[in-house]
Amino acid sequence: MAEAFRWAFIGTGTLAKKVIKEITATGRHAVVSAYSRSRERLEAFCRPYGTYAAESVEDAVSRPDVDGVYISVTNESHYEICRRCLELGKPVLLEKPFTIKAEETERLQALAKSKGLYLSEAMWTWYSDVPNKVLELVRSGRLGKVKDVYMSYSRYSIDYAPRVSDPLLGGGALLDIGIYPITYSYRLFGFPKGIHCNGDIVNGADYSDDIVLDYDGFKVRMDVSIVGTKGEVMIIDGSEGTLMNVDYHYGLPAAVKVGDDVEVIQGDRGYNKEFDAVAFEILEGLTESRFIPMRSTLDCMRILDECRRQMNLVYPFER
Ligand SMILES: NC(=O)c1ccc[n+]([C@@H]2O[C@H](COP(=O)([O-])OP(=O)(O)OC[C@H]3O[C@@H](n4cnc5c(N)ncnc54)[C@H](OP(=O)(O)O)[C@@H]3O)[C@@H](O)[C@H]2O)c1
Repeated sequence: MAEAFRWAFIGTGTLAKKVIKEITATGRHAVVSAYSRSRERLEAFCRPYGTYAAESVEDAVSRPDVDGVYISVTNESHYEICRRCLELGKPVLLEKPFTIKAEETERLQALAKSKGLYLSEAMWTWYSDVPNKVLELVRSGRLGKVKDVYMSYSRYSIDYAPRVSDPLLGGGALLDIGIYPITYSYRLFGFPKGIHCNGDIVNGADYSDDIVLDYDGFKVRMDVSIVGTKGEVMIIDGSEGTLMNVDYHYGLPAAVKVGDDVEVIQGDRGYNKEFDAVAFEILEGLTESRFIPMRSTLDCMRILDECRRQMNLVYPFER
């Protein structure tokens, strides 16, 4: 990119602060406008970057110098804010979980298609090298026939931010972090033949979930928790070898053992890779991402819907 790609940011919280720092340092991205409701916090966010502190979503997004919109508001507002940005005719990168339910994802994708606009999920894992190399490895058959898969994402994180466990903000383990192993499993093995979910619901949000996805000849077992301490690990056991990956959703290196050989899969990761790729895709005129296609986002939302149905998790704003 010869000139910086110009973003409008909707949401200026913890994640947006990390992202703006990382992407603007490259010189390849500028955040020309931003909006969130608290004026004081918005201005504090904008000041160091010379970003325009907008009065509304419309004010931030409809400027002619905005090339794309990045939305990192809390989960319950994803759908409505994304819908408004698409109605304003702008390409959108929307944080995970894409929406609260699959039906909303379908509506947003249909709206983007009808307007010929780019829309993708900021599922940053799949912009990193290691997960894509793991996918190639599994497809290549080097691990042999897959026998068993275990994935945990279990960290004590309810004190991290209110949004993690507040049902009014669409919180809970499934939507906050369960989406990562579910998307990983979906990318490696496709849509499961069976979905089983047991959730431990506390104060209207699921704190811990046991999820099992059935595939031909093996199961993917998942421990997902915002009060657990098992950490984040993925183990794929095949007839010829085993892959082990700590912190897999961050795209950290994975170890592969086939026979007596141990190999480490490494590669680049981070928000810069994601934002560079999305900016290129928008400038290329694509309407969906090569890294995280619309089908993947929609199918994973359908898996989340089924898990929520089985654990009877209904958010207050859905009643
Ligand atoms: N990809 C990743 O690595 C990653 C990591 C963490 C989080 N996330 C996702 O990113 C999102 C944000 O997480 P976070 O940790 O940054 O949350 P956060 O710190 O609570 O920030 C949320 C931001 O959204 C704004 N906001 C909320 N509702 C809004 C509305 N209706 N209109 C305008 N602004 C609104 C809030 O400001 P006001 O209240 O002042 O409006 C705040 O600036 C979540 O969906 C989360 O799942 C992704």
